[in-house]
Amino acid sequence: MVILKLPDEIEKLRTSNLIVAEILNKIRERVRPGVTTSELDGYCEELCRKRRVKAAFKGYRGYPFALCTSVNGEVVHGMPSDRPLVPGDILSLDFGVNYKGYYGDAAITVPVGAVSAEAMRLLKVTEAGLYDAIRQAKAGNRLGDVSAAVQGRVETAGFSVVRDFVGHGIGRSLHEDPQIPNYGVRGRGIELKPGMVLAIEPMVNEGSYEVRVLPDGWTVVTKDGKLSAHFEHSVAITENGPEILSRIQ
Ligand code: MF3
Ligand code: CO
Repeated sequence: MVILKLPDEIEKLRTSNLIVAEILNKIRERVRPGVTTSELDGYCEELCRKRRVKAAFKGYRGYPFALCTSVNGEVVHGMPSDRPLVPGDILSLDFGVNYKGYYGDAAITVPVGAVSAEAMRLLKVTEAGLYDAIRQAKAGNRLGDVSAAVQGRVETAGFSVVRDFVGHGIGRSLHEDPQIPNYGVRGRGIELKPGMVLAIEPMVNEGSYEVRVLPDGWTVVTKDGKLSAHFEHSVAITENGPEILSRIQ
């Protein structure tokens, strides 16, 4: 069941998502060769304490960290570790908060030092796919329009869309209906309505779309070991079109 939000609830989601965006931005500034993802997670915890927000992922189904850090062939749900980042890595930072009962959720993938031209193209195409999808997230459109927008952008560029993980509605729960696949058919699926808030999160692989979960039970990796990128925004559907809640204002 898709839960529609009233304007005062959208306001609360705006606040939560703005905090997510600010914290992600601060963490991004610390990304450089030599830094470990554990240090980034520690910094994230510190920022959560300062802002008096609860890190949404920590404890979620037993996930032990504030931040998900997915490097190179890791797709999503990578766990912070003591391996120092090296030039050429790409790093997905996925972060959520709960503030006054409402969730925020967003992700970015950033280059570490200088990366290959192909890695940079993967990042740009994945982010462009997210923005294509957001443009389709308007009242009267269907969910398939959002999904197809990502898929079109990604496959035209010669990359592939991960099938096994999807975006989601967001509100008083981190994951609400509807599920938002990053592949689909225009004109299909539920009709989008003002008051829906969607966390749209394309996960895009350089090679095949096949993924597997490591024995740690969390880390999702590409089966072929090639790179993967991930971007996410929480977006409100308003009478005046999509509003990105998790963007730095
Ligand atoms: N952005 C991801 C999601 O929406 C992060 C979840 S990680 C978890 O599903 F640890 F909370 F599971
Ligand atoms: Co999400």
